[in-house]
Amino acid sequence: MPDTLENINPIVIGPNNKNRPDKLSPIQEEIIALKKKRNAVILAHNYQVDSIQEIADYVGDSLGLSYKAAETEADVILFCGVHFMAETAKIVNPNKTVLLPDLNAGCSLSDSCPAEKLADYKEKNPDVYVVAYINCSAAVKALSDVICTSGNAIKIVEKIPEDREILFVPDQNLGQWVSKVTGRKMLLWPGSCYAHVLFTVRAIDRIKMDFPNAPIVAHPECIEAVRDIADEVCSTEKMISFAINHAANEIIVVTESGMLHRLRREVPDKTFIAGPTENCACNDCRFMKMNTIEKTRDALLHLEPKIELDENLRINAYTPIKKMLDWSRS
Ligand code: 13P
Ligand code: SF4
Repeated sequence: MPDTLENINPIVIGPNNKNRPDKLSPIQEEIIALKKKRNAVILAHNYQVDSIQEIADYVGDSLGLSYKAAETEADVILFCGVHFMAETAKIVNPNKTVLLPDLNAGCSLSDSCPAEKLADYKEKNPDVYVVAYINCSAAVKALSDVICTSGNAIKIVEKIPEDREILFVPDQNLGQWVSKVTGRKMLLWPGSCYAHVLFTVRAIDRIKMDFPNAPIVAHPECIEAVRDIADEVCSTEKMISFAINHAANEIIVVTESGMLHRLRREVPDKTFIAGPTENCACNDCRFMKMNTIEKTRDALLHLEPKIELDENLRINAYTPIKKMLDWSRS
């Protein structure tokens, strides 16, 4: 099935939306009023705190958020996620104001592939076809042939001509998973997500003893041993349909903790157990959690901090994103 907006199950908040609580807090009410005044849309990633998810117009994964960013008619996009996500929204919307509540909300995976290193690699290996996971900077995107997300990576890689050698950047875990599923050999950049590699088989086995019938759903950024014991490996958005369609009432969710808010709101009759890390409950992404409800309000109030991009860089980064959006639809 194609990864189009029709099957990525977005939460679109409308006046009667069941996902918005009946009573909002004063600061949430303030944000809704500011949103109207600014003609803004609030896009939130599944890892954001509950109070932000509750007032967003759309909550989803990187793929759904990219489509929404590309399609919005609002003047202002308030992107509650991390920097590369807001930057992607700016790349596809150069004339809109794109805000990120905290400009320091980065991503360890994105940082693991500096553009200069990739440029250097390409100079020595000019024929390589670069597939970049969307968790990378605009400068890395500009050096890439096509972008992918965890929701469409398999489909994107399957479209690349057989005779091309692929370099997959920056996530070696996602790349390894895609390679295994598609049977396509790829060179893997040695990057990883600091939060997802903390999940271990030993810690998950321990929790399995308490919930022996609970299936495990894991994000592909997890290490191979964890992916191998999972019943399903998928993007955060696909975790929603997995939870809805699986017969089990209890599900172990091996990804960042914010995902549990979305699952509990959308599938309230089931129990979701946070996938455990080894010695600590450290399944929060410290970057995602830099955005708070106060910073979200302040961003709309002051129209800051804004994402700014050099126009040449933006144009070069746009081409592989556009290719992804087109390939994903077809
Ligand atoms: P998704 O696109 O699956 O939501 O993943 C984004 C991400 O950053 C996971 O760590
Ligand atoms: Fe980046 Fe990992 Fe945070 Fe996702 S969870 S934004 S990959 S650091």
